[in-house]
Amino acid sequence: MSYKITLSTRDKQQFEFTCTAEQTVQEAAEAASLYPPFSCKSGICGACLATCKTGKYSLASYSDEVLSAEAVAQGDILLCRTIPKTDLHISVPYTADNIPQHIHKPRTAQIIALDNIAERTVKLVLQLEADSELGLAFDFEPGQFVELEVPGTKLMRAYSLANTPNWDGRLEFLIRLQEQGQFSAFLQQAVIGQSLLVHAPSGAFVLNKQSANPRCFIAGGTGLSPFLAMLQRAAEWGEDHPTQLFLGVNTEAEIMCQAELAALQQSLSHLAVQICVWKPVTDWSGFIGTPVDALRNYLQQHNSTQDIYLCGPPRLVAGASEIALDAGIDKARIYSERFVAS
Ligand code: FES
Repeated sequence: MSYKITLSTRDKQQFEFTCTAEQTVQEAAEAASLYPPFSCKSGICGACLATCKTGKYSLASYSDEVLSAEAVAQGDILLCRTIPKTDLHISVPYTADNIPQHIHKPRTAQIIALDNIAERTVKLVLQLEADSELGLAFDFEPGQFVELEVPGTKLMRAYSLANTPNWDGRLEFLIRLQEQGQFSAFLQQAVIGQSLLVHAPSGAFVLNKQSANPRCFIAGGTGLSPFLAMLQRAAEWGEDHPTQLFLGVNTEAEIMCQAELAALQQSLSHLAVQICVWKPVTDWSGFIGTPVDALRNYLQQHNSTQDIYLCGPPRLVAGASEIALDAGIDKARIYSERFVAS
């Protein structure tokens, strides 16, 4: 038994393929050479979030941090966990160019820098080896992530790129070291020159360039990475879009990338940055509280014609989404990426 699946994108394109009763929608899409954004393929990252408009389906196990009971009741699904019982019409929250029809094979890169930039936070810089087809070039949309894999192991984690596409093969990442994280343990022993595999970029957490609305970016810790990429691209292209960035950290020791943010503000006169320290341990004179608190204050003083971009731990994303919805922001204007501890 197989069913017709129709994916409708935000720019009103449609993709059709068939899916058996034994396949997930993600598997069937890939079998049809369509690659909607994905990462874990196990229901824990939320990269494949979509909404089913019509049809019946079952959902294999998933984390309620990325798909709440309320969201399920409204038809939200994870493509990697959805098994059809009828034909399905699914709406995806991104444009057709986020569904590539082929995917490049993993590329080898060397670690060229690995520096502590804040408490339990490192900046990892990789240099790609030249590829016979692509040379050193590495193309992606600012906001996307790649999966990094330790060669010869099953160790693989997704991280957002913190720099912009370039012809030099340089890739930058901000990474929070997790107590129990396997990749974090690897990084703590890694040495300059060590190789990693870099999988093809994926993800739909990219700017809605059709929108002229002011943008509000909310970053939890290393959730800053995709925003650095977006803002660097804006600076490179001279696109000075009104943007408010809130960066949330637990204590002052976790504040990162202040020089980079100051440089971006030099280039982007309409960029405002507020660092939010939840539990300061010194006489911190800046904002005290979470970026969710800061967003609440901000939306009380600004109208609801804002595009909201959220990146960080699932709890921050859920809290900020709720504040934005309560303030009257349209759900379609809230874009989010959740970080899974690794
Ligand atoms: S790819 Fe579906 S939840 Fe991660």
